[in-house]
Parts: sequence; structure tokens; C-alpha cells
Amino acid sequence: MLNFTTVPPLSLYIHLPWCVRKCPYCDFNSHEVKGSFPEEAYVDALLKDLDQQMPFVEGRPLVSIFFGGGTPSLFSPQSIEKILTSVQAQLKYSAHIEITLEANPGTVDESRFKGFRAAGVNRLSIGIQSLQDDKLKALGRIHNRDYALRAIETAIRTGFDNFNLDLMHGLPNQSVEDALADLKDALQFQPPHLSWYQLTLEPNTLFHYQPPTLPNEDILWDIQEQGKQLLATAGFKHYEVSAYAKLNRECIHNKNYWEFGDYLGIGAGAHSKLTDIKQQVITRHWQTKHPKDYLENITTNPQIISEKDCQFEFMLNAMRLTQGAPSSLFTERTGLPLSLLEPSLTHAIQKGLLVDDPHHLCPTELGQRFLNELMGLFLPNTETGRTSCQQNDKQSQAHTNQHY
Ligand SMILES: C[S@@+](CC[C@H](N)C(=O)[O-])C[C@H]1O[C@@H](n2cnc3c(N)ncnc32)[C@H](O)[C@@H]1O
Ligand code: SF4
Repeated sequence: MLNFTTVPPLSLYIHLPWCVRKCPYCDFNSHEVKGSFPEEAYVDALLKDLDQQMPFVEGRPLVSIFFGGGTPSLFSPQSIEKILTSVQAQLKYSAHIEITLEANPGTVDESRFKGFRAAGVNRLSIGIQSLQDDKLKALGRIHNRDYALRAIETAIRTGFDNFNLDLMHGLPNQSVEDALADLKDALQFQPPHLSWYQLTLEPNTLFHYQPPTLPNEDILWDIQEQGKQLLATAGFKHYEVSAYAKLNRECIHNKNYWEFGDYLGIGAGAHSKLTDIKQQVITRHWQTKHPKDYLENITTNPQIISEKDCQFEFMLNAMRLTQGAPSSLFTERTGLPLSLLEPSLTHAIQKGLLVDDPHHLCPTELGQRFLNELMGLFLPNTETGRTSCQQNDKQSQAHTNQHY
């Protein structure tokens, strides 16, 4: 039986599922536009979705809002404003709340960025991926280096002092120098936040069926180590597997996921994780996945998360954070006593994967490097987790709520 005394912070995730073109590495719930997309109808569906799910979060204040995709920057500022106006009418939040919107450099122009800002968006996450034309081409991106540079300049010029740049590494034919050059070029713009994902080949993507030649393990290791060093020297804190931030510029929204906070997800395929203090349960809601079906009928599939799954999911998220989490947060967020994690904790400490500190759950450097092995020790239905972890540690899962 879970026993909560408080509810966790609540975030709102809004999924906008269309893209100009589907990238060959991408397994997100994103769909090629093919001419046009039903923007107005989708905004109406989102608002209906919000109405339908409001009873689950009534009265709770939001700590962050995130427009993810897909390519949210394909939507007009008017649509974003309409959504935010409706959210504001139904949910409380402070005037300084973080409101992020993901933008693809191929869909950027100054008036659009100005419009997003006027609508209330105060943080952009720009999908740069690389600043080398041959790499962008290999990734099937719709933009080139010039577009990417222009997108960053436009964001800064239109007053976005809070922005993230998404970069990927371990790209086809990428050398260590290429990867470092991308980081150095990005640093010229003094971004407060960088997401630096290693390219993974995901099932159900074109790259899975036609895999490109990726750098070998030694090169991947050197990219990772030298890149981390470069970012540390530039004053970035490596606070999550793939996330780097200047002082106090961590992404509030993503950090709430990693700290096993609550979130309401609206949009096609979005999911929510909500703590119900009256019923003393945590539930997950799944919204209709395909945009076409979602537009016709929004169904929500709520499921109670079992105690075992709560324990595992807490660790799965918290161990992505390089500083981990206070041990007390486990009980606060799962409603369960920490003793339930024994003997997995002892086992992880013995293996050198977890720091030996009763007050803090923190992966060691070894634990960060072998995160799958660490997580394997906490998998439900294994005796002290002695089986290897099947959980996919895809780094790209880190930035939205959609991809556990
Ligand atoms: C939803 S997309 C961001 C916004 C926009 N759709 C774009 O791509 O420009 C989120 C980010 O996930 C990362 N990503 C997606 N698939 C990935 C993969 N297979 N491996 C590593 N990173 C991936 C990319 O950096 C991408 O910018
Ligand atoms: S990576 Fe971004 S732009 Fe490319 S298909 Fe996925 S969501 Fe769309």
C-alpha cells in the first residue's frame, strides 16, 4: 500500500505530432505533413483532451509547460496562444513558469519566433543536431548549417535568453574532431543549456533497416570523454545522461520527469503520470496514439502503476541524474519505504555502481557508464536484479514524457 503525504510538482506536456519530413533515425510519435495538416482541428482536440483530463489535476499548480513533438514550431503562434490561453484559464501557474517549445531550424522565421514569445513561450529547444552539412544530410534533416545558425541567431534576437540546443553525436562517419567542432560552434552562441544525445538506431526507423556506418566504440568513447571535458571547461554542469546546463539553467520540465514528478500529457500518444493522494495510487494515462484516430475520438487508458513498477521507474529516472536524488525523495514520490529497495541497493553498492551513502541515491561514475547494468538490479521480478537489464537506455528518451 502506498502512503503519500504530499503530491509531487505537476508539469504539462503538449504533443504536436507533425513534421515536414520524417527523419530516418526518429521513433517519436511524429508524422510527415504531406501537404497540410489539420492544425485547427488538432488544437480543438487538444483543448477537449485537456477538459477531459482536468478532473485528474483540478486545483494543482503547474511548474512547467512543454510543447514537444514532432515539430511544434510548425504550428502558428496563434494556435500556441490559443492553447496557452485555455491552459491558463484552467490551471494555476506563476508568471515565471518555464514554457518550452521545440523548434526545427527548417521551420523558423523571425515573425514566428516573435509570435511564440508573445504567446507566452519563454524557452526554445532547437533541434540543431549538427552544424556540418554532410552530417545533416546523412541524418535526413531538412536544414543545413546556415539554417541552423540562422535559427539560433533568430532565437537570440527575438529575446529568447533561455534556450536549449539539441545536438547529436556518434553520427555516420563522424570523427572526434567533427563532434568537438559541433560543440565548439554551438558554444559560440553561449547557450544556457545543451542536450547532447548519442545517436541510437531504433526499431521501426529507416536506420534500423538500412543502418548507416557509425563510428567504432573507441571513437564513440573518445567523443564522449573529450566532449564532456570540453563542456565542463566551458562551465556546463553535466546533470543528466545527455543534458548539460549553465548554473541554475537546468530544464525544469525534464528535471521533474527525472525526479519522478507528476505530469499531465495531452495530445496524440501523450501519457500522464499522476499521483492520486485520495486513492493513494499512481496512475498512468495513455492517449490515443495516431493523430488521425485522436482527432476522431480521444480515449484515455488509465492504469494503476504497481508498487514494483513505481520502485523501478523511480530509479530508472533518478539514476539518469548525475547527482542522483536524496533517499527521502524515494518515499516522497513513490509513497513506499526505502527498505523495499533492499537488497538491490546493497548489491549496487557492492558492485561499485551506487555511492555508499544512506542519505543519497547517487550513481558512481561506473554506474553512470553502465546505467543499464545498474537499472537491471532494480528490475521488478528479478531476484535482486541478477538478470541483465532489458530496459532500453535510449538517450533520446530523456527529453519528453513520451518515450519510456
Ligand atoms: C522531438 S525531437 C526535437 C524537435 C524537432 N522535432 C527536431 O528534430 O528538430 C527531439 C530530439 O531528440 C533527438 N533524437 C531523436 N531521435 C534520436 C535518436 N535516434 N538518437 C539520438 N537522439 C535522437 C534529437 O536531438 C531531437 O532534436
Ligand atoms: S527528429 Fe524531430 S523533425 Fe525529425 S522526425 Fe523526429 S520529431 Fe520530426
